[in-house]
Amino acid sequence: MTSSSTGFETIKIFDTTLRDGEQSPGAAMTHEEKLRIAELLDEMGVDIIEAGFPISSPGDFKAVNEIAKLVKRASVCGLARAGFKDIDRAGEALKTAVRPRIHTFISTSPVHMKHKLQMGENAVLEAIGASVTRARNFTDDVQWSAEDATRTVPDFLCRAVEVAIHSGATTINIPDTVGYSTPQEYFEIVSMLRSRVPDADKVIFSTHCHNDLGLAVANSLAGVLAGARQVECTINGIGERAGNAALEEVVMGLKVRGDIMPFATGIDTTMLARASKLVSNVTGFPVQYNKAIVGKNAFSHESGIHQDGMLKHVETYEIMRPEDVGVKSTSLMLGKLSGRHAFRDKLESMGYTLEEAAFEDAFRRFKDLADKKKHVFDEDLVALVDDEIGRGHDTIAVKYLRVESGTGVEPTAALTLTVAGEERRVTAVGDGPVDAIFKAIRALYEHTATLQLFQISAVTEGTDAQATVSVRLEEEGRTVTGKASDTDTMAAAAYAYVNALNKLLVKRQKLAPEALTVAR
Ligand code: KIV
Ligand code: ZN
Repeated sequence: MTSSSTGFETIKIFDTTLRDGEQSPGAAMTHEEKLRIAELLDEMGVDIIEAGFPISSPGDFKAVNEIAKLVKRASVCGLARAGFKDIDRAGEALKTAVRPRIHTFISTSPVHMKHKLQMGENAVLEAIGASVTRARNFTDDVQWSAEDATRTVPDFLCRAVEVAIHSGATTINIPDTVGYSTPQEYFEIVSMLRSRVPDADKVIFSTHCHNDLGLAVANSLAGVLAGARQVECTINGIGERAGNAALEEVVMGLKVRGDIMPFATGIDTTMLARASKLVSNVTGFPVQYNKAIVGKNAFSHESGIHQDGMLKHVETYEIMRPEDVGVKSTSLMLGKLSGRHAFRDKLESMGYTLEEAAFEDAFRRFKDLADKKKHVFDEDLVALVDDEIGRGHDTIAVKYLRVESGTGVEPTAALTLTVAGEERRVTAVGDGPVDAIFKAIRALYEHTATLQLFQISAVTEGTDAQATVSVRLEEEGRTVTGKASDTDTMAAAAYAYVNALNKLLVKRQKLAPEALTVAR
């Protein structure tokens, strides 16, 4: 297919933030967060959303099922191993999808076949045929992946791909599962498959590159140059271990270097910054300052020589404009005299539509913020609204907090929480003010979760800036990240910890509804 605006061939963007991305250690997302991300991906123009691995948990099944109902444009995909149970579960989850895709996979490399699958080549080929055929009973759109393809013996990879195609696969994905390949080698693998496998021209080849050597995006683009017409990627490059190819980098690489890579995508690039912020907020994974495309410094120029060049002509040091990826120069926005109407308009211009109750709450919090903070910037508003959406119907809430700390003072936190409507109060001391707050929370709501990460970042500049605090908790292998922003860093810490606890409660309930008893 070609793009009508550029005349370039189009590359399908397959986003796996909700599946491979969610496999990042510590990046668990709640159901509501997954729906929000899926909605944004759909609006942004992603072609295929891999919404989860339905057999892996009831939560994943529900996510795939509801995302299938929710999205308007994209195909929705569910992952399945080669077994029939996996495939049937994916088929069931996708029943309501307008454009369902089943993605089934099996390992083809010698090391995986011998040690992981304990299967020989013939058994693997048989499983490929059977799994793809089974998936075709549910949908005509079946993707097959050769897990660890880049460490697979070329002749066997060709045979495996041939079986998948002749069993009905319509997309053939070539994962660099362990991030081992290089651009030249990956180019050659895709080229070889396209030239050697019978009927290769009847399917779409796809890239799926991990970033263990920092080459995921380069390898994906090499795959495109070799003839792949689908790229699998994630927002901010999150994913197993070092992650996947970053969607924003792949898309902007193609857009900026159309001169040597004449390919288009359907992505509205002005939504990239927003998608990056949302995924970072939900996962609690900060975006590194120097991250390509969406990092805080991606469009900042520090050295005098660069600044001088930029003032004379922006193209001296800028290969794309910040607006192209949705980065606006920090803008002064509403003040404490702004009314509901202006506030709603501003939210809508930033892509947020809140339900009435959430809007009223956000407006009240905006007024409080404008009282405390001289200038309220767009970034403040994003933090405030993301907080609002992230809250949901919380079982635990902070009602009152007073913290004492300083030199010669024992750090003390007096805290009141409401837990399922019941008020609980305590005063706790700690090694520092944050420790005192967390001890107070643990005293009021006993739990076994351990703190994995505590992180503070400033939303904007200045000493009156809001602080965003991320708290990651782990309980019996389940990880959640709570986030909150406030001009008072200690208050933000308390809110973030409580936000994480509420997420943990939701997770526990999903896995075992009876476990949602309110702990003391
Ligand atoms: O990295 C990988 O091999 C995968 C497959 C499931 C496609 O994520
Ligand atoms: Zn992967």
